[in-house]
Amino acid sequence: MRFHGGRPPPGVIDFSVPGNPLGPHPALHKLLEEAVREKVYATYPDYNYTRLRESLASFYGLDVNRIIVFNGAAEALSLAILALKPRAVVVAEPNFGDHHLHTLAARTPLLRIAMREEGNRYRLEPDDILSVPQRILRGSLVILSNPNNPTGYCTPSAHIEKLLEELPDDAMLVIDESFIDISPGCESATRIGDERLILVKSLTKSFAVHGLRIGYAYTTNKRVLYKLEAARQAWNVNSLAAHVFEKFLTAYAEEARAYLSNAQRVVEKGLQQLTAGLTKLGLLVYESSAPLLLVRHPKPHPAIQEKLVAHGVYVRDASSYPFLTPYHSRIAVKLPEENKKLIDAFYEVIER
Ligand SMILES: Cc1ncc(COP(=O)(O)O)c(C=O)c1O
Repeated sequence: MRFHGGRPPPGVIDFSVPGNPLGPHPALHKLLEEAVREKVYATYPDYNYTRLRESLASFYGLDVNRIIVFNGAAEALSLAILALKPRAVVVAEPNFGDHHLHTLAARTPLLRIAMREEGNRYRLEPDDILSVPQRILRGSLVILSNPNNPTGYCTPSAHIEKLLEELPDDAMLVIDESFIDISPGCESATRIGDERLILVKSLTKSFAVHGLRIGYAYTTNKRVLYKLEAARQAWNVNSLAAHVFEKFLTAYAEEARAYLSNAQRVVEKGLQQLTAGLTKLGLLVYESSAPLLLVRHPKPHPAIQEKLVAHGVYVRDASSYPFLTPYHSRIAVKLPEENKKLIDAFYEVIER
């Protein structure tokens, strides 16, 4: 069985899954109901997802011919390794845990680069990657998440440009921007038109529809587009998800934009609220620009998780991430009232 970090017991507030804290937009819900009434699920989706890609292109200002839709960012990330068959995968860690599994499936060597922990922040310098021997970087796939999960670190665009300038010509750079739409102050690399860049996006996270499973990849590299297209399963995005987003991103584009800006404001405030409240309790709270916070607490998992659950909240035990420990948790940023409950629960567990 594959293991994934979060299994909240019923009835507790789940802080283990970060995403848009506002929850799904009501228009999405309405479109989904309409689609069910019209039995959209009874037909196959468009084989090429032309209208869905057009909607994505117009909403995000992208070239429609450079977009491939996926069953969530997770599918794009796994196929990038399986289809492109890089000579090695280089991942800045800690990071989304599935890269390790994908390299095992593809029998591809994996090199993990540790991000720098400096006081209450994690960061990564381009040289941390560029100092990897050329014999490993040549023909490799370098993967960063921006913002990074679970540290919340945002990579400046200048760093991405430097990486692209100095990585070998046959290396590819994957930037997983799954959280970027709802991350205050993080800049997307979409304007960098380098052929060695693959951007991965998650509508799942941006629009709080984790169960609908929809994301996309964007690259100007025709060879990569072809390989990813060829490797993706036919009809990989189900007809309900495709139909609903086709409409939502065009008919409700203004609402969707306002909703994402609002989510960024809520995340920014939530980060401030959680950072202040948890720091006061003596936790080390790492600086974050994402809808998630990494913390280090004086007591370890699993005991701290059990006590937090007894006080109605569930966090992500972060010990399964490379370089983290049972003293680390990742916390999703939620609405102010929910964030307060988390701080109160930590108070009960730490102070009493
Ligand atoms: C950094 C990162 N990328 C990608 C994913 C997968 O996103 P999706 O739900 O769109 O497949 C996750 C899920 O937690 C994630 O944390």
